[in-house]
Amino acid sequence: MAATIILQIAAGAALVQARPSQTLDRRVNNGLALRPPMGWDSYNHYACIPNSSIVESNAQALVDLGLADLGYHYVITDCGWTVPDRTANGTLTWNETSFPDGFPAMGEYIHSLGLGFGAYSDAGIQMCMNGLPNQTGSLYHEDMDALTFTSWGVDLLKYDNCYSDKDAGYPDADYNPSSPLAFRFETMRDALEKTGRDVLYQVCEWGLDFPSAWAPAVGNTWRITNDIIPAWRTIWRQINQFVPSASYAGPGQWPDLDMLEVGNDIFTEAEEQTHFTFWAMAKSPLVIGCALNDTMTHVNPSSLAILKNADVIAYNQDELGVAANLSRRYSDAGLDVWSGPLSGGRTVAALVNWNNNTVDAALTLPDIGLQSAGRVKNIWSNTSAADVVTSYPAQIAPHGTLLLELGDTTPSGVYKADRCARMHDLGVTFPNVSGITDSAAYTLTIYAQSRPGYCELEVSTSASSIKTKVLLQGGSATVHISLLAGIKNTITIGGSHEISSVHVSPPHDTFYPSIAFTTSGIASHYNCTPGLCAPVGSKITNLAQNGSASLSIPRASHAVPGSRYVEITYINNDVATATSWGYGTNTRNITIAVNGAAPVRLEAPLSGRSSELFSPMKGWGDPATLGVLVSGFGDGKGEDAIVVGNANGDAGYQAYGADFVGLRIF
Ligand SMILES: *[C@@H]1O[C@H](CO)[C@@H](O)[C@H](O)[C@H]1NC(C)=O
Ligand SMILES: *[C@@H]1O[C@H](CO)[C@@H](O)[C@H](O)[C@H]1NC(C)=O
Ligand SMILES: *[C@@H]1O[C@H](CO)[C@@H](O)[C@H](O)[C@H]1NC(C)=O
Ligand SMILES: *[C@@H]1O[C@H](CO)[C@@H](O)[C@H](O)[C@H]1NC(C)=O
Ligand SMILES: *[C@@H]1O[C@H](CO)[C@@H](O)[C@H](O)[C@H]1NC(C)=O
Ligand SMILES: *[C@@H]1O[C@H](CO)[C@@H](O)[C@H](O)[C@H]1NC(C)=O
Ligand SMILES: *[C@@H]1O[C@H](CO)[C@@H](O)[C@H](O)[C@H]1NC(C)=O
Ligand SMILES: *[C@@H]1O[C@H](CO)[C@@H](O)[C@H](O)[C@H]1NC(C)=O
Ligand SMILES: *[C@@H]1O[C@H](CO)[C@@H](O)[C@H](O)[C@H]1NC(C)=O
Ligand SMILES: *[C@@H]1O[C@H](CO)[C@@H](O)[C@H](O)[C@H]1NC(C)=O
Ligand SMILES: *[C@@H]1O[C@H](CO)[C@@H](O)[C@H](O)[C@H]1NC(C)=O
Repeated sequence: MAATIILQIAAGAALVQARPSQTLDRRVNNGLALRPPMGWDSYNHYACIPNSSIVESNAQALVDLGLADLGYHYVITDCGWTVPDRTANGTLTWNETSFPDGFPAMGEYIHSLGLGFGAYSDAGIQMCMNGLPNQTGSLYHEDMDALTFTSWGVDLLKYDNCYSDKDAGYPDADYNPSSPLAFRFETMRDALEKTGRDVLYQVCEWGLDFPSAWAPAVGNTWRITNDIIPAWRTIWRQINQFVPSASYAGPGQWPDLDMLEVGNDIFTEAEEQTHFTFWAMAKSPLVIGCALNDTMTHVNPSSLAILKNADVIAYNQDELGVAANLSRRYSDAGLDVWSGPLSGGRTVAALVNWNNNTVDAALTLPDIGLQSAGRVKNIWSNTSAADVVTSYPAQIAPHGTLLLELGDTTPSGVYKADRCARMHDLGVTFPNVSGITDSAAYTLTIYAQSRPGYCELEVSTSASSIKTKVLLQGGSATVHISLLAGIKNTITIGGSHEISSVHVSPPHDTFYPSIAFTTSGIASHYNCTPGLCAPVGSKITNLAQNGSASLSIPRASHAVPGSRYVEITYINNDVATATSWGYGTNTRNITIAVNGAAPVRLEAPLSGRSSELFSPMKGWGDPATLGVLVSGFGDGKGEDAIVVGNANGDAGYQAYGADFVGLRIF
């Protein structure tokens, strides 16, 4: 955790000179955390005032409530266990009032319960104490402190970052540190390794200099965000910061979204489900941060049920160790789709309702790369379904999440007749055929087991119904068809052919680089350092509400009027640090409007994968891509006028939009 000091740093301002990057030639080598670590930590509920009775009663509760059996193993005493000064011989020691039998004795108690003993220290001259009396930190004492911890039987060390910046005079929380942070965390890693005891090592530098790029070589987990705060808005900020770190998760190395707030009576049940779902799918450590049981309180049954959901825990602990990522964002509707692979060929997917009202929505399977699923488990409603095709509708509570586990799936575009079609006297009908875009250039392949012959194909959308004769030979036939975006399409194949499946592929796409666009108002072209802003090498930046970038695209002769699926390649490296306590979101908006129709908004998460602090404009050169459906495309001869901008930018939290690299139209 970091002290709540508010230091407003303007986005992109105060860039310091680049320094040589660290040589990180090896990984942390302790064989631990092959699955994301699970446990309990004192900070979220008890702040920096833990004591042995609190820690022991919560440890006991992990066992009594069945949480230990589900994998919650480590019991971590966070800030506040020490005293202002070291002992006469220079070692760290505990507060004797709060830990009357001694910190090591508490460790023995934790071990006697079969649990792991977690300790806390800091890579600075003092520990984070949230304004409470100063307590000495581990900086310059790493070897001695590592020996002290291991002599006490410590199994895990959480290592914080307050009072660490020498050149700045060791301020409490420094969000603009004068030198890269890796070095201090490596020193403690090396000290722990020298002791010969395997200690799970948690790097906690609040995500300041994109630790996902270096911390896998240093710790088993690393914090990728500033502290979680006890307010709903924290979830949106943190998940938007997680996006560029998703691919760094793996056995032994886990991006850490911070301790859980489930059970602290801050969130509604639906919000706690969203929070827990997300942390689990992201492969974050699952560290309980509530009072499970003490003399004043105990965890409420609904929160406990969430923390104990065996399926959700299993997604976190899955042997593949691949974190879910953002598949599709519907910003105007306030919905996100996240998904990731699980062992056994399964997929876990979440549809998150960011609105503070109930919505009727549907998880669209093509959004997660699938068309159908033989088995679907709806986790939070504890129901299951068979043979789900294209979409799974559900009502989602305010700030709630539809969480699905899908098995026996087909990839997007593949419709198996036995699962997806209805047989009837006149042939076979596939009722729920989906399109990503309005186009006459889809490719349909029909697979049949019958002898060669003609069949009658009818493709119906809400706009048209087209019949053609198709020759099936060699078991298949391929034709171009028209489909509309969404699930408004039906394919019927007449006759008695034994149709086994149909495969639908989307139309070709065309990429339009930002360099082809003309800016007006506040918006400018920017040439990036070679290798950055791929695939264009430049971008349009500083998109203010009154700025835009326009391009007119000649229509293809066969173009269908209506909506197009457009993938926007954007850059956002506006990282929330000091603003984390307030309204920092880690997002920036970008809008796209066609032929004067209402703009479609994408609220872009972070895309940068390197620290702006020590390599200026590099994180602002790392693009990412997300798709939106844009209406307003015309037909006949002529051109479609595309306007990329930041419509209503002044109404939001951040007046400037995401940088624009290019877009791909399907
Ligand atoms: C909670 O703590 C009390 C003592 O304060 C103890 O009697 C009770 O068994 C504990 N309950 C659980 C579930 O650990
Ligand atoms: C030990 O902790 C207690 C309770 O937080 C505090 O009042 C006291 O000052 C601490 N003692 C030392 C020596 O820091
Ligand atoms: C340092 O002193 C403390 C008590 O003040 C003692 O518990 C500890 O064993 C000593 N450590 C060493 C390495 O001498
Ligand atoms: C720990 O704090 C609780 C109050 O939060 C108190 O009831 C208990 O006596 C304290 N125990 C010790 C050992 O200080
Ligand atoms: C505590 O630390 C702060 C910041 O380093 C310092 O200004 C202050 O003098 C210290 N107080 C004590 C009592 O050491
Ligand atoms: C998201 O995850 C999928 C499946 O693991 C992977 O194929 C894809 O590359 C990931 N996307 C990003 C941006 O990491
Ligand atoms: C959501 O709506 C409820 C009920 O209207 C309200 O109590 C709550 O404060 C709202 N939450 C947020 C984060 O606005
Ligand atoms: C889900 O429902 C089944 C009965 O259909 C029940 O045995 C199980 O405990 C329920 N799971 C949860 C997490 O509520
Ligand atoms: C088509 O999708 C709708 C929901 O979008 C569903 O109610 C219906 O059962 C589906 N039909 C088939 C045959 O899967
Ligand atoms: C354009 O918007 C920017 C940022 O919102 C603002 O600073 C600037 O004054 C505006 N310029 C005009 C000409 O309106
Ligand atoms: C994006 O736009 C929405 C709608 O205008 C607004 O609520 C939100 O604050 C904006 N986000 C940022 C980062 O400005």
